[in-house]
Amino acid sequence: MKPARVALIASAFSPRDFPRGATPEIVLAGRSNVGKSSLINRLTGIRGLAHTSAAPGKTRGINFYRCQESFFLVDLPGFGYAEGRGGSREWKGLVESYFADRPSVALVLHLVDARMPPTALDLQFAEWLGSLGIPRLVVATKADKLSGNRKAVQQRVMNEIFAETQVIFSSAVTGVGCREIWSRVAEAARNR
Ligand code: GTP
Ligand code: MG
Repeated sequence: MKPARVALIASAFSPRDFPRGATPEIVLAGRSNVGKSSLINRLTGIRGLAHTSAAPGKTRGINFYRCQESFFLVDLPGFGYAEGRGGSREWKGLVESYFADRPSVALVLHLVDARMPPTALDLQFAEWLGSLGIPRLVVATKADKLSGNRKAVQQRVMNEIFAETQVIFSSAVTGVGCREIWSRVAEAARNR
């Protein structure tokens, strides 16, 4: 499923800017540079819709993209960037207030880098989502950078670490995994 119509409808830097209403929200979260904005572009088929960068810390606010009038894709700023310079405190404040009062969240895609073990922040974030009871899915990004053998090893490792969650390996470059992600997104948005 590719959304025919996609539009950026809000770029929120404080809870005041969050859209109101009951539209289901599918959230992309994960550490800086893991590929959240790139995956939004790949999923929607619109190159350049979400700004991406080789340097971490590109997405600062929370961006809401409306898809086919029926749900929002929500691009969060990455965590783990600008630690000690106020960056991580800002992230915490904005993201915590987002999740604190957002009954419209239908699914969180927790993006991790397919090539390396999850960071301490990744594990904390997964636990935190679990404690909030928010439906989630782990998306292991940049799978195009793994050879067949390494991919098989990493799939085993990720499935062990995130034993309670489905793990989908994806690539914003080749599109691998995107059909499966879309079908989970559509299902979550429908059942909200
Ligand atoms: P922040 O906004 O800083 O939190 O980062 P982000 O998670 O939105 O990452 P972004 O999409 O900006 O991508 C970061 C870098 O990774 C860019 O250089 C992308 O081109 C690259 N990248 C993202 N996804 C993939 C992928 O699937 N494969 C490869 N090879 N590179 C990718
Ligand atoms: Mg981004």
